[in-house]
Amino acid sequence: MTLPAPRAPALPIFLLLACACRSADAPTPGAGAASDSARPAVAAAEAARLRALYAQPASAWPAPEIDAGVAFVELGRVPRPPRSEDPRHEARVDLGRMLFFDARLSGPGQMACASCHDAELGWADGRSTSFGHAFQPLPRNAPSLLNVAFGAHFFWDGRVTTLEDQALAVFENPREMHASAAHVVEVLARSSGYRARFEAAFGQPEPTLPHALRSIADFERTLVSDGSSAFDEFLDGRADALSDEAVRGLHLFRTRARCANCHHGPLLTDGLFHDVGLSYYGRKLQDLGRYEVTRDPADVGRFKTPSLRNVARTGPYMHNGLFDLDGVLNMYSVGMPTLKRKPEEADDPLFPTKSPLLKELGLDAREKADLKAFLDALTERRRRVRPPELPAVEER
Ligand code: HEC
Ligand code: HEC
Repeated sequence: MTLPAPRAPALPIFLLLACACRSADAPTPGAGAASDSARPAVAAAEAARLRALYAQPASAWPAPEIDAGVAFVELGRVPRPPRSEDPRHEARVDLGRMLFFDARLSGPGQMACASCHDAELGWADGRSTSFGHAFQPLPRNAPSLLNVAFGAHFFWDGRVTTLEDQALAVFENPREMHASAAHVVEVLARSSGYRARFEAAFGQPEPTLPHALRSIADFERTLVSDGSSAFDEFLDGRADALSDEAVRGLHLFRTRARCANCHHGPLLTDGLFHDVGLSYYGRKLQDLGRYEVTRDPADVGRFKTPSLRNVARTGPYMHNGLFDLDGVLNMYSVGMPTLKRKPEEADDPLFPTKSPLLKELGLDAREKADLKAFLDALTERRRRVRPPELPAVEER
């Protein structure tokens, strides 16, 4: 089978416009400071000063710049989930891993969870938006599954609240795995190998959909940060684990660049939904995000704040996968795109409101490079997850 040609990368046109207008009619605020901080000696001295401060326990770090009303949690190491006392836990995880990799469960037998959530691509798929059943392009970017164990809402719009319901939604989606519950159970029941696995995992050999979903979810809950990133080593007391750029980036992230207003805690997410100006309201790429779930006009254009753990591996970015990391940082620097009401939208109650936590930052090239170095320092050791050997499914 030949793959369809990748689509040409869409240019975020408003971004180009935003940048062009800015340099034409507004001098960069703090331009003097920018050229100062760009001097290597000044930048090195700043890094040394910050390194000494951040080498202390987090409780003694410089205060973050956080707006009123934000429930800030300090950045830190990702906790290990508690070990399960359940003697069948390991059998369930092993079974879940098999189901995660088993394309025979999808309707046409060609697509597994692992098709779009690849360990080597940070448990995402490296595409702007995924291809689903019969290579139909899906509207959204596949998120990483790292640390989903800690999530309270899943999908970019948070439309399900358990990993079990999440897996069910993917199986049943005609544009994704295109598989009915009956199909999944029927395939599994035909396999004596799977029946033995279900017996070990649940004490009964008859496969059921809830048991299959539970196993997949238990497997996903094992995909937790392993503390191998440079930032984690720095938190462990290795003061030289972060480069000068990354130390300055960490400080910027928590202070002037305002990122920590939404990206905070060990996973660098508040787990909430915000409009960062990417709803493309009234345009071809329109995605109303959280509003599709709640029907609350305040939620138009809001998406779940993604974790930034391992973010260098999970591009392209945002719910629509339209941006690389430089593009993301350029947008934050100009305060993200601001939609203008068209005349006919003057009284439109659904017109989205961008989060007031976003402000024009006027980051200079060095500051963007510093932020990027910090984001890079969240990269974990590459995982090579060998697909498990799958039990045979007997012919009918
Ligand atoms: C065709 C590609 C594709 C397949 C196959 C696929 N996914 Fe996904 N997955 C996605 C996309 C795209 C999203 C985001 C969709 C959205 O937000 O509306 C997603 C979202 C998720 C999320 C939510 C993560 C978060 O942080 O919110 C989880 C968990 C997940 N998938 C698990 C699975 C499991 C388990 C399977 C197999 C049963 C699976 N996926 C199969 C593409 C895929
Ligand atoms: C108002 C809250 C908010 C602030 C402030 C904020 N972000 Fe985000 N961030 C989000 C949300 C929400 C998304 C997802 C938006 C979407 O997909 O439409 C996101 C997405 C991202 C992504 C893409 C991740 C992925 O997996 O696709 C990166 C990278 C990122 N932010 C970095 C930053 C940096 C760096 C800063 C500071 C300069 C920052 N953010 C400030 C809420 C915020």
